Amino acid sequence: MAFNIISAAEAATYIKHGYNVGLSGFTPAGSPKAVTPEIAKIAEAEHAAGRPFQIGIFTGASTGDSADGALIRAKALRYRAPYTTNADFRKAVNNGEVAYNDIHLSQMAQELRYGYYGKLNVAIIEACHVTPDGKIYLTAGGGITPTIARLADHIIIELNAAHRGTDCIGLHDIYEPIDPPYRREIPVYHPSDRIGLPYLQVDPKKIVGIVEVNIPDEARGFTAPDPVTDKIGQNVAEFLLSDMKRGIIPPTFLPLQSGVGNIANAVLGALGSNPDVPDFEMYTEVLQEAVVDLIRAGRVKFGSTCSLSVTNECLQGIYDDFDFFKNKLIIRPSEISNHPAVVRRLGIISMNTAIEADIYGNVNSTHIAGTKMMNGVGGSGDFTRNAFISIFSCPSVAKEGKISAIVPMVSHHDQTEHDVNILITEQGIADLRGKSPAERAKEIIENCAHPDYRELLWDYLKIASKGHTSHRINAALAMHDALLKKGDMRLVNWNDYL
Ligand code: COA
Repeated sequence: MAFNIISAAEAATYIKHGYNVGLSGFTPAGSPKAVTPEIAKIAEAEHAAGRPFQIGIFTGASTGDSADGALIRAKALRYRAPYTTNADFRKAVNNGEVAYNDIHLSQMAQELRYGYYGKLNVAIIEACHVTPDGKIYLTAGGGITPTIARLADHIIIELNAAHRGTDCIGLHDIYEPIDPPYRREIPVYHPSDRIGLPYLQVDPKKIVGIVEVNIPDEARGFTAPDPVTDKIGQNVAEFLLSDMKRGIIPPTFLPLQSGVGNIANAVLGALGSNPDVPDFEMYTEVLQEAVVDLIRAGRVKFGSTCSLSVTNECLQGIYDDFDFFKNKLIIRPSEISNHPAVVRRLGIISMNTAIEADIYGNVNSTHIAGTKMMNGVGGSGDFTRNAFISIFSCPSVAKEGKISAIVPMVSHHDQTEHDVNILITEQGIADLRGKSPAERAKEIIENCAHPDYRELLWDYLKIASKGHTSHRINAALAMHDALLKKGDMRLVNWNDYL
């Protein structure tokens, strides 16, 4: 079948007010970049004419500024799920201007299939190649693309020449599980197992047009590691080596998952440069820049991921050396990269970043001071609860020491004390496994809290009502209150709460 070649502006006219739209990709990797700004222009024109125009967006994870950013600035979004990192979107969410549903990333595709969100009208998919019989070859991210392609009435393809046409295909492993009650196990027994097809098969009649573009990926770079993130990385390496010596981690090592952001990137760099850490594999949802360097250096033997969340320069480097990389990488849909059963089967060591943790091991990775959304929970929950060992790390303080990352009670709950095994800051390592709440509090305050806050946290426990999990309920968030009222958590005065 010959497809219509259309402009991005023409493609955008298929999107109507009230539609639910699915986007390919996972992080800016693999997300559409040309049609979404045109949808934003339609929204602006409609609003100027006094007519409503808002849509719902469903994606794998975050997208680039040309999707989340352009659409939110045009007030074109009524609803969005799941994770996002866009600063303008964050502002809109925290101003209550858009409904944001922050769910575990492994669940997005299946919740769409289960019908929680109603009908999906259009899927916009970035591809590097399409065949007349409807085989779509995806680019740098897997996300929820198989599901949105099947559920949507219409498909728009952004054929992006920046991904080199047929020269660099073969990384994807497209697989969509059957829904209950017929679901079987996901047959991934090793990070490099392929269980699906290298392309997405769709009904070619659903493809309403192909938009030809040549637009680079929009992934952000990272801030260079600093002494604090270096020390966190060294502590993570030290912890893993000591668990290997104790025989908990087998000598063959176990696959690693690593979260998003500057700290995760720095941790991986530190692991790679520690000669005592054996060469390892990754089974992860985002593969960041540091891992690409480690694959080149032979330190990472294989990377299974949902996206190549790297700068465009790094991505083009992978394409340039495609013969080297093609047998060392797999890109999977998020439903498979983050599948709880696979995470548990493979014995993944998960490494994610906290915004704050409390003295009992509960973790907040999404909200600043309990109310303001940062990014979202991402896949951290998919991995943490099911990991062989779950690790959270973060600097012990933020904002020049005015904020302690270790607090009496987290101001928002993402991961519970029942799921978090290890907490690591630049101060040290808290091993929470097998410990009671009182033992965990001692481990965390002594090993992870910044020295400026250790006595304050011990003083909190002195005024707490004793119980299995000791708290003074009216003072549990007093450090946050001190931050809001006095600008510094160190200014908390426990006497005010007696
Ligand atoms: N209170 C207020 N601000 C805080 C804070 C706290 N307790 N802890 C961190 N911050 C601020 C930092 O100061 C920084 O602010 P800035 O952007 O103004 O400099 C910002 O939060 C980001 O922190 P940074 O130290 O640069 O960490 P990061 O880039 O590694 O991001 C998370 C940390 C938690 C935001 C990020 O990892 C995330 O979104 N995680 C949730 C999703 C996830 O874990 N996915 C995992 C599977 S991929």
